[in-house]
Formats: sequence, structure tokens, C-alpha cells
Amino acid sequence: MSDISDSHKRYLVWLTGLSGAGKTTLAEALNQVLAPSIILDGDVLRQGLNRDLGFAAEDRIEVGRRTGEVAKLLLTAGFHVIVSSISPYCQIREQVRQSVGVDPFIEVYVECPLEICQQRDPKGLYKKVQAGEIKQFTGIHQAYEEPLAPQAICPTHLKSVDECIEIILAAIPGHNKEG
Ligand code: ADX
Repeated sequence: MSDISDSHKRYLVWLTGLSGAGKTTLAEALNQVLAPSIILDGDVLRQGLNRDLGFAAEDRIEVGRRTGEVAKLLLTAGFHVIVSSISPYCQIREQVRQSVGVDPFIEVYVECPLEICQQRDPKGLYKKVQAGEIKQFTGIHQAYEEPLAPQAICPTHLKSVDECIEIILAAIPGHNKEG
């Protein structure tokens, strides 16, 4: 049972997973359910805040740090924050967990086999990777480190969006779909 005060807390829901795993879809669906909430999307942040950064490991670590810092400001301002970012290394996610505090950090592994992400290829990126047009791609040229102890796991190849949202909400103290 969750304490009544839990409903006033703000959470940072951090969706991590391969490109094409379904992070953006889940972020948008979750944004309809949590209130007040705001999405920090990796692709969007790379257009501005992170436009000076590439895809080398140290750049991705810096992307994670900046994203965590912005999330922290938004939490302080009273929002639930939904991050959608590959954030491929455990180090990135642990750094954020330490920075925002263990309690509000809800790490969600958006799990999907690489082969299925490649089939989905929503942005045509895997095709470009195959053609040699993109380097340093997560899951192909670079590792994706699965979360070791995430608060939730959403296997998007097996479950519907609604089922995944239920899984995530169950990991957020004081939240249910009606609440
Ligand atoms: S992260 O690894 O640094 O956390 P982030 O989520 O910000 O990644 O950005 C990933 C997005 O950049 C992907 O959704 C994809 O559209 C784009 N992208 C371009 N090149 C790459 C690459 N080499 N590896 C992964 N994503 C890439």
C-alpha cells in the first residue's frame, strides 16, 4: 500500500532502450496519464540542448547528465518528468539516479529484441546503418547495456501500449490509471 503523501510526489520516469523499441510511444501514452507531466525526448534535445554532442560514449554520458539536470529542475518545478532516451550505459542511468535521488527515479527498460527493432525501423535508421550511412549505432556498432535492476520492464514485442502503461504505473508509488 502506498502512503497518501505519495500522490504529491513527483517522479522521473526514465525510458531506456534500443532505437525502435517504443520509448517515444510509451512516453506519449504515459504523458496522457500522469499530470502534470512533461516529456524530455532524446531526439528533441539533440536538436538544441545537445546539438554539440555526437554518439561517442563520452558524448552519450554527457547527454545523460544534461538530461538528468533538466529533469531535476522540472521535478523541482512540480512536474512529473518522462525521459525518452536510449541512454545505453548503466553508468548514465546510475549517474542520474544518484543526482536526482533514488526515490523519485523510475528506470523503465523498454525491452525489444534488436531484430524486431530493425524490422520496425520507424525512422529508417537501421536501413541507413545497413547502407553504411550511420556509424556508432546503438546495438549494431556500440553496446546497449540492459538495466540490471529497473523499476519496470516493458517488453513491447509482447505487450500492448496499455499493458505497458499499466506496468509502469504499478512501479510509481501512489499512482493508478484512475488516480
Ligand atoms: S543517447 O544514446 O545519447 O541516449 P538519444 O536518445 O539522445 O541517445 O538520441 C538517440 C537518437 O538519435 C535516436 O533516436 C536516433 O534518432 C538518433 N541517432 C542518430 N545516430 C544515432 C546513433 N549512432 N546511435 C543511436 N541513435 C542515433
